[in-house]
Amino acid sequence: MANRRPFIGGNWKMNLHKQDALALASALADRVTGDAVQVAVFPAFPYLLPVATVLHERSAPIAVGAQDFYIKPNGAYTGEVSLSMLQDCGVTTVLVGHSERRHVLGETDPLINDKVLAALEAGMDVILAIGEKIEQREAGKTDAINIGQLGYGLAGVSSEQMKRVTVAYEPVWAIGTGKTATPEDAQKAHAVIRQAIAFMFDQTIADGVRIQYGGSMKGSNAAELLAQPDIDGGLIGGAALKAEEFAAIIDAAAVPA
Ligand code: PGA
Repeated sequence: MANRRPFIGGNWKMNLHKQDALALASALADRVTGDAVQVAVFPAFPYLLPVATVLHERSAPIAVGAQDFYIKPNGAYTGEVSLSMLQDCGVTTVLVGHSERRHVLGETDPLINDKVLAALEAGMDVILAIGEKIEQREAGKTDAINIGQLGYGLAGVSSEQMKRVTVAYEPVWAIGTGKTATPEDAQKAHAVIRQAIAFMFDQTIADGVRIQYGGSMKGSNAAELLAQPDIDGGLIGGAALKAEEFAAIIDAAAVPA
């Protein structure tokens, strides 16, 4: 994990109704107290404000992030939510490029790039998620896919803005499947991603960027993944829905590699 502060995100996806979301936020406020690890949770839109309120009232060191947003500041965009509306609700971080948005909701690399730029322009922190599908891995295209998604996603981002960007490497075949990349395979992909960032920006920026692993990370496998030199945290789906399981991952991240 080098000298980078580990970053663990909990992507609640389209799960947890109000009572469960608030109960989870409250349980996490009890359990997460230190600042060795940066922690953020990503509730569904209707619960952003109440979850942020609970965490704020409890002075919990947990940021609230949004799973999606629209790039325009306001106007006739039925159904969409702007970045400033999210900021009103206490949101400081946004997810961009998650595989479900790419492959289920049809988001393209150019839209993902527009979102990255709009969010950074608005002062948000960004987690840019990238990752290959199983057929791409089997065809030996893992690195090419990652480098391509990274290049598209970060086009036009300044060196200064890169300080607010985290990359999440999430092999699509590992998300929600119980299949995890081996620590060695994940490390290889992360090292290539860091190299690509050094090529696009410079080595100092690449050394500072956190690269999270995502894809069936849980309490029982977090430590060995996080022990890899280029894995700086995790983006967690299923295991983020239970306070103890999520907190176990945060505990694993707090242990110096
Ligand atoms: P998972 O999801 O932990 O359930 O595999 C990860 C993610 O989608 O970010």
